[in-house]
Amino acid sequence: MDAIVALCKRRGFIFQSSEIYGGYNGFFDFGPLGVELKKNIKDAWWKDMVHRRADIEGLDSSIIMSPKIWVASGHVGGFSDPMVDCKVSKMRYRADQFFFAPVRVNNETIGYISILEDGKMQAEAEAAAEKMKRKGGHQGELGPIELKDYTEADPSEYELIPSPATGEPGSLTPPREFNLMFETKVGALSDSSDVAYLRPETAQGIFANYRNVVDTGRVKIPFGIAQIGKAFRNEITPKNFIFRSREFEQMEIEYFISPEADWEAIHQDWIACCQNWLLSIGLPEEMLGRDVHEKLAHYARACTDITFEFPFGKQELWGIAARSNFDLTQHAEHSGKPMEIFDEAAKKKYIPHVIEPSLGVDRLLLALLTAAYTEDEVGGEKRSLMKFHPRIAPYKVAVLPLLKNKPQLVERAHGIYEKLQKRYNTFWDASGAIGRRYRRMDEIGTPWCVTIDFDTIEKDGTVTLRDRDTTEQKRVTEEELYTLLDASLH
Ligand code: GAP
Repeated sequence: MDAIVALCKRRGFIFQSSEIYGGYNGFFDFGPLGVELKKNIKDAWWKDMVHRRADIEGLDSSIIMSPKIWVASGHVGGFSDPMVDCKVSKMRYRADQFFFAPVRVNNETIGYISILEDGKMQAEAEAAAEKMKRKGGHQGELGPIELKDYTEADPSEYELIPSPATGEPGSLTPPREFNLMFETKVGALSDSSDVAYLRPETAQGIFANYRNVVDTGRVKIPFGIAQIGKAFRNEITPKNFIFRSREFEQMEIEYFISPEADWEAIHQDWIACCQNWLLSIGLPEEMLGRDVHEKLAHYARACTDITFEFPFGKQELWGIAARSNFDLTQHAEHSGKPMEIFDEAAKKKYIPHVIEPSLGVDRLLLALLTAAYTEDEVGGEKRSLMKFHPRIAPYKVAVLPLLKNKPQLVERAHGIYEKLQKRYNTFWDASGAIGRRYRRMDEIGTPWCVTIDFDTIEKDGTVTLRDRDTTEQKRVTEEELYTLLDASLH
């Protein structure tokens, strides 16, 4: 993870927000390469999920919507995480990501240990218990360490559990629900009537516009509405770089189906479709997994996450939920507007149910960075490279004249660069030894380098095409170059 974070900063992919003022926790800025990467991810998703499907329409709804939407959806009442505060250090933690256990020697409790959630916490907790026993001079058998999260603590234990900040007990509050929505004010009034929210998901913008799309488009069941856009959550503990941040982007689809359809089969089809798409843009199958939720919201019928092996462990990447007709029914009740659709084929009117694939752009970007990051050796020299799929790579190709001080070479190379630039994001690099220029391109994940040398201008016009992953070089004509690049980008 450290290597990825360092590379992101060094090569201009991702910066900490407000860095010149010491940073701003939970917010990030995307530099020249990061913005390309992000745009390519969104373009690939839009092309495959919207343009290449006849049953999905796009939408771009506003970020700030009527607060009534968030009351109807249940977010005002219940979009919260449990938190716990340390009264001494003023630190705040997510109670369900903060674990504790009594330490027992010969069945007698000698104290409590606490630990923040991570992949190695069981081993770390056992080591901490062993240390407590040794330091206290206790003789006897250490009992098993059974970690529970803080929401499961008995009120009598709150005073006994040490704060992760100070290591001392007595300063933790009971768990309290903390609403994750960012509030803002709209208009000139300054009473509670002007409170509005930055959307915590793009999905409600889709439900709020479902009627508009049905009335103005030519959709028929089953159909989907897709949206890409910013979402904001006042996360208690933003962490793991861009994995959990306070401002992020989502790519969401609400796929509307008949209440009588075989929703389980459609849900499974969507899970397979999402997984295949991830494979198609370069995530390796062995890094993907599934997490089938056992605890479900009362309106949800099923939810499966596609997980990814991040450097800090296996975590949710893409949630695919079967949400019944909860949201549309809520909006029908709260707005008084009908949400039924007439199903021509079935000759029936109903409020459709939905399958909801919901993916975070930033989280996918981190997964792609993780999967792409590679270290190997070329000619006895260590190199780091990003093995991005060509569709995702910020630059598709780089053009390099072999020598900077040979005007003929530079002129010919620049001509090719200008032609390529019209079709693909192309990098021009004329300075430095050719090997160093290749390394620079490897490190930012450019799949191909095109070198213009004396054979190009004196012989047959062919150029040297170098492959980033294999470092193999072959001579190709300009025609062949376009064919190869076009094919790789589909
Ligand atoms: N409409 C459903 C919904 O928003 P979610 O599981 O809360 O469901 C969907 O979020 C996806 O959005 C997640 O799978 C993840 O990829 C991304 N996501 C959620 N919270 C995030 C955060 N704080 N930072 C980055 N990505 C986040």
